[in-house]
Amino acid sequence: MKHIDAVSHVRGESQFVDDVPPPAEMLYAAVYGSPVMHGKILAIHTEHARAMEGIVAVLTAQDVPGENQIGPIIPDEELLAGNVVRYVGQPVAVVVGTNPDSARKGVGMITLDVEELPAITDPKEAFQKGWIIGAPRTFALGDVDAAWQGCDLVVAGSCEIGGQEHVYLETQRSRAIPLEGKFLKIYSSTQNPSGVQRHVAGVLGMPIHNVEVEVKRLGGGFGGKEDQATPWACMAALAAWHTGKPVELALRRAEDFRMTGKRHPYSSDFKIGVTREGKVLAYEVKHYQNSGATADLSTAVLERTLLHSANSYYIPNVRAFGVCCRTNLPSNTACRGFGAPQGMFVLECALAKAAEKLGMPREEIQRRNLLKENDRFPYGQQAMHCHALTTWDRATERYGLPAAISRVDAYNKSHFETKKGIALMPVCFGISFTTTFLNQASALVHVYTDGSVSISTGGVEMGQGLNTNIATIAARALGISPNRIKIESTNTTRTANMSASSASATTVLNGNAVLMAIGQILDRLKSVVTGAPGISGKEKVTIIDETVFYDGRKTEWTWERLIQTAYTNRIDLSAHGFFATPGIYFDKAQEKGIPFAYHVFGTAIIEVTLDCLLGTYNIDAVRIVHDLGRPLNKLIDRGQVEGGLVQGLGLMTIEDLQYNKKGQLLSRDLATYKAPDVYFSPDDIEVEFLEGGEEALGPFGNKAVGEPPLMYGIGVFFAIRHAMRAFRPGTEFAFTSPLTPERVLLQLYSDFQPPNQDKLEKTFKGGA
Ligand code: MTE
Ligand code: HPA
Ligand code: MOS
Repeated sequence: MKHIDAVSHVRGESQFVDDVPPPAEMLYAAVYGSPVMHGKILAIHTEHARAMEGIVAVLTAQDVPGENQIGPIIPDEELLAGNVVRYVGQPVAVVVGTNPDSARKGVGMITLDVEELPAITDPKEAFQKGWIIGAPRTFALGDVDAAWQGCDLVVAGSCEIGGQEHVYLETQRSRAIPLEGKFLKIYSSTQNPSGVQRHVAGVLGMPIHNVEVEVKRLGGGFGGKEDQATPWACMAALAAWHTGKPVELALRRAEDFRMTGKRHPYSSDFKIGVTREGKVLAYEVKHYQNSGATADLSTAVLERTLLHSANSYYIPNVRAFGVCCRTNLPSNTACRGFGAPQGMFVLECALAKAAEKLGMPREEIQRRNLLKENDRFPYGQQAMHCHALTTWDRATERYGLPAAISRVDAYNKSHFETKKGIALMPVCFGISFTTTFLNQASALVHVYTDGSVSISTGGVEMGQGLNTNIATIAARALGISPNRIKIESTNTTRTANMSASSASATTVLNGNAVLMAIGQILDRLKSVVTGAPGISGKEKVTIIDETVFYDGRKTEWTWERLIQTAYTNRIDLSAHGFFATPGIYFDKAQEKGIPFAYHVFGTAIIEVTLDCLLGTYNIDAVRIVHDLGRPLNKLIDRGQVEGGLVQGLGLMTIEDLQYNKKGQLLSRDLATYKAPDVYFSPDDIEVEFLEGGEEALGPFGNKAVGEPPLMYGIGVFFAIRHAMRAFRPGTEFAFTSPLTPERVLLQLYSDFQPPNQDKLEKTFKGGA
């Protein structure tokens, strides 16, 4: 199947929050954000804004009727700042106007009296000052301290990995509509409709059932709307509550860049011990997460960093420490990979450093330490159906790796100003929410009298192809054409208590819930035909191509006749299905358990060409062998693998978030922050799906695909590094990501001494 939305997207007919025709008298909100990184609020001056034409209301913390609190895990996040502001752009006041421009003019008239307080942006500095969120955590396996002794080589180092803007095409937005009575309907571009519902109710001091949240689809989320769609929905709701009118709040691109959190930057220290042959005996890592101003999802992100600190390698002695550090930046949040890329990057840096010191190719040390069946992860779970080596070997075979390496070496010998580099990146990603209780989902299935089917789930379509997957699953389970199936919007009145659509698990959880509902309906339908001529038992009834078969024989019963008969026999043609992932648990006291239903494996090979005079590079080729279990929709999955890869390449290369000393974002729009486009993307990408993968927990045995491919992008850092070391053999370049062309150039010429100014002047004056 093609992506269900493909045609309407391309024709521009798909509706997003603000494409729904506006209701009468709708008002528009805009947000006044803190001008300083950290400070005590002395006074908020809103009089001038209030007096302006076209301004209907200006709302601050005092106007919140319920709880001024929207922290999803830890209650440390005010909807509107009350006494203290903690980052530039932190919402302080909501201005409601008759149109978006007057609301923004109103914002421009607000001023804040603030007593500035010391601010911190560096996570290690925050840690030293005790500015942390939650408790630091340590995952351990074996005995690291004892293991250093037996190593032939021990190296240590530090890494920096930058954040990443989500660059969803549809910026954060919401529309709140007051209904009859004290009820509200919220349209929100959120991955988490129930989260929005709960917090809107909390902010307005209402029971949850007073709030209906409706989500048709998102113009991308990438984790940025797992939690951070909530504040804007709450502000729109607050404005609607006060004015009694529908209110829309849609951030403009620069506002979204400035006010919302991004992927967490990390500063990490590592130490790794290896034998002469390249076997890793011990690995120690300390992750200092730059959480930003509030907890948001930071503690869960850190947990996934720790869980993925050994990626797809088996290391017998590991100690991984991690801490969330509170800084005066917008609160960082979920972003595709959810902490795993940061954990994996550090280990790849450690392996690279060890390989360089041993004089061994990096890929040799990587391969020697790959996970094998039944090996233990540092959190105690064992690797089952482990495809680390299979995907690695298949990728190297397909690419003809030894020949490719010889070709690159020959190229580098015969070229001076350009060099090539090649790198492999294995990935092992755990599937399930790391917060065990979130692994639940429900679905509602209706069959109408003409045989058409309507399905509601707790999953949100954000471009990843969820609706296409659900339709495929339902069609296969019912034995009917996907054309008969309609996937409804996601709505809290049809599906309650949803988990966010995230952790790559949306199809797994909601697809299985759909199967549970369909199972009930099928069971009832089979009873309907049992007893008809030639059909003597339910067990042997199947539906294939909209026809009922009995014991493999075609019968006279079509799908439509079956449904008609069931209806007139007063059989319930609706069902609710519920699914909870079995067998998973995690014991935080021990930091051990089985947090994941299964793991996704894969390997990427990346080749680049570097211009050593300019520092610019081209990504020539990427080859991926990726494990999907039993694929469901190869076209959708290929889109996810390629999209994830390119987002990961951007993370490691050109996506560079820059702040000035006042905490203002300099890379504040798409002109100053470069996200990968089609020109930057690899010239040549080939994705092969691993044949003969085992049947996984997903519907029809498929595996989750949303996030794992992002981490293939980490390889590009080491491909560029390979090329840099071909130009400057033996140089120890920094482990700082993103490796922008600027950083490459500065490092290639770090020993370059600018000519003495006096001499230079003399030269130019023609004296010499
Ligand atoms: N693909 C598109 N096109 N748009 C998105 O917003 N989000 C990613 C990934 N792929 C995203 C995407 C993230 S962060 C996750 S967790 C998964 O999709 C969520 O969807 P899934 O659980 O159905 O894989
Ligand atoms: N992924 C995304 N969101 C989450 C997770 C996770 O693993 N755990 C809790 N929230
Ligand atoms: Mo994805 S970061 O789990 O929304």
